[in-house]
Amino acid sequence: MSISAAEGGDPSAQRAGIAESPVVRSAPREPRVPGRTMRYLALDDLERAARRRLPRMIYGFIAGGAETESSVRANRASFGRHALVPRVLIDSSARSTAVTLFGRSYAAPFGIAPLGAAALCAYRGDLALARGAAEAGLPMILSATSLIPLEQVRAAGGGWFQAYLPGDPARIEALVARAAAAGYETLVLTADVPVPANRENNLRNGFSLPVVPGLRLYWEALTHPGWLLGTLLRTLVRHGMPHFENMDAVRGPPILSRNLVRELGARDRLSWEHLQLMRRRWKGPLVVKGILSVEDAVRARDCGADGLILSNHGGRQLDGAVSPLQVLPQIAARLPDTVLMLDGGVRRGTDVLKALALGARFVFLGRPFLYAAALGGATLVQQAAQLLQQEIYRDMALMGVNDLAELGPAHLLPGAGAWPAGRGA
Ligand code: FNR
Repeated sequence: MSISAAEGGDPSAQRAGIAESPVVRSAPREPRVPGRTMRYLALDDLERAARRRLPRMIYGFIAGGAETESSVRANRASFGRHALVPRVLIDSSARSTAVTLFGRSYAAPFGIAPLGAAALCAYRGDLALARGAAEAGLPMILSATSLIPLEQVRAAGGGWFQAYLPGDPARIEALVARAAAAGYETLVLTADVPVPANRENNLRNGFSLPVVPGLRLYWEALTHPGWLLGTLLRTLVRHGMPHFENMDAVRGPPILSRNLVRELGARDRLSWEHLQLMRRRWKGPLVVKGILSVEDAVRARDCGADGLILSNHGGRQLDGAVSPLQVLPQIAARLPDTVLMLDGGVRRGTDVLKALALGARFVFLGRPFLYAAALGGATLVQQAAQLLQQEIYRDMALMGVNDLAELGPAHLLPGAGAWPAGRGA
């Protein structure tokens, strides 16, 4: 695939968010959850069902984290350390979950985090995530390690693109130009993957990228026919062997390629100068994902980042890395005018309200939406989003809040930190 170097769209319109009118549903309807999907009453229910449907190696790839998975657990536990302080007898009948981010309106203050290899977990996973998010009026960030060309995903609704970049200016410039030409609005640089993480669960379960077919994979596939027929064989028959489509300006290697690691390039050379280069080339909002220290937050802002996603990669990179929620108050105090976003362990409407009260403008969720895509495609992704939006809408009334911008430190006190058990989702 050869990609034109021309940059697409009017940059000022992109920043102002007037390129397309978004769907805004401020007062969510009851989620329409038909038939058998009625059992998904909360996002955690999706994990239990996905665990049954997916081969152990695929489920483990999604749910797992690095080494001891302590950061996966810490992300969840961090929300328990804050207790909500509701206000009562406030007319909240006109409340709205809608927010504006980089000049664009979204139905609720959350979106779908970048999820690599989604199309291995769910049939046409990236498209399901993009369509579900668009239907729900929310943003979805397409991962650089996705298996469907970014142009197709953009056409389906995805508006944010996440790059994994080697420290190589020529490759950076070409990929940025490709994303712009495809009409992406917001570019996200993930900064916390200088090297692949040590995910022992993948090794124990026999999962790897590149995929190495063997007896274990065949056995797992045969004993999970829903995934074998509905995702793997359907993909191979209809679309051929998946490739890493979006790591560079040109098509990357197939998922079975032994050259994969070499083609990833020197990511451990990526530095602040490369972020500055991206800033010069990218006219729309630029976001850095994977920030956890005040110093890095300030530096990213100084390099021209419009927003930051505080993240420990869902506990999948540095085991023991601090939870984004824990560092949020310090970073918010230092950078009151920077758009701060967060991901990692967000599962409930109350989690979203806590993050917003501590200074986040927006949050992202990863695993729950990938489970939804694997279980029920774009429809279930949309329903999962509506479920969370409903929780936020209900919780706003219980908190006595009409506008999410009203949330602040006065709505929180130190909590017991007792919940929840379990890890990823
Ligand atoms: C991820 N994550 C991720 N992040 C990123 O910047 N680029 C990527 O390609 C991926 N790929 C990926 C795959 C899978 C299967 C998972 C579960 C996660 C991390 C992701 O964007 C996000 O930071 C976390 O998933 C957030 O934590 P929760 O919501 O899953 O707890």
